[in-house]
Amino acid sequence: MPVSFRPLPGAFGAEILDLDLSRDQSEATMREVLSIFYEHQFIAIRGQKLQLSEFDSFSRCFGTQRPHFLDHLRMDGHPAILMLSNIHESGRQIGIYEGACFWHTDVAYEDPPNSATIVYAIDTPKGEAAPTYLADMFAAYDALTERTKRMIDGLIVLHHYGNRYDTKEGSPTAAERLTEDQKQRVQNVHHPLVIRHPVTGRRSLYGVAGSSFGIVGMPDDEAFDLLHELAEHATKPEFTTAYDYAPGDVACWDTYSTLHKAPGQKAAVRGDPHARLLWRVSVTGTAPLAASRQDQLAPQAAE
Ligand SMILES: [Fe+2]
Repeated sequence: MPVSFRPLPGAFGAEILDLDLSRDQSEATMREVLSIFYEHQFIAIRGQKLQLSEFDSFSRCFGTQRPHFLDHLRMDGHPAILMLSNIHESGRQIGIYEGACFWHTDVAYEDPPNSATIVYAIDTPKGEAAPTYLADMFAAYDALTERTKRMIDGLIVLHHYGNRYDTKEGSPTAAERLTEDQKQRVQNVHHPLVIRHPVTGRRSLYGVAGSSFGIVGMPDDEAFDLLHELAEHATKPEFTTAYDYAPGDVACWDTYSTLHKAPGQKAAVRGDPHARLLWRVSVTGTAPLAASRQDQLAPQAAE
């Protein structure tokens, strides 16, 4: 039976219907899921009951797993799984807590960057909305004037770990605090500002918020102004959507063509009504089952 779906409310995204990933991760089904994913950039599959191995195998359909840079917040014994959580145990946070509450592109600060993020909601706040916001960077690019497109096509952006808008360590709107060892491993990388998606070929504004800190050959104040202007444009309501997880939800977003930001959260202990825990896997490269352009493992600069 073909996989069915419906558009999510908001500017983009799709909800896949009537699919139990604990029973069906067949090649035929996953090809359809991936086709919907690449067309809609964000997909949600609600009401799942997955073993860790089932979530792991599902995430591998999207690309090559890459253990996250924040190695102290990975799941013990399962380095590919990063914990997203406000839960604190034994005096320390168990996952990314406040460090993603700003518009960003996951792991744009590495080369190659992430191609997709896959999450599974274990626990979510009860009785209060805590949506994650996402922005469509294909639509944001398409809506630019031809003059702006000509000006930015070909520009190369400097990325490194952090949030351009707030670099104060420990601030709730800064990127997650690094360990001393992680600070030594932060690198500068470069990615095109306008990319051609390796699967669909569509042009996307890439990584204009969060970890982008400069543009090659441009004075920093001009680069910051341009990146701010593009980020402000891309996160207008007509390009964005909001998704509020419930326990059992699986969600996946294409990191080449979206920005997102997590909700602000209060610290919690396990069992608190506002406790939040999601498992997250990051992948690089193209999904093994994607129908086209499988040979291109990284976003290409638009010509
Ligand atoms: Fe993120």
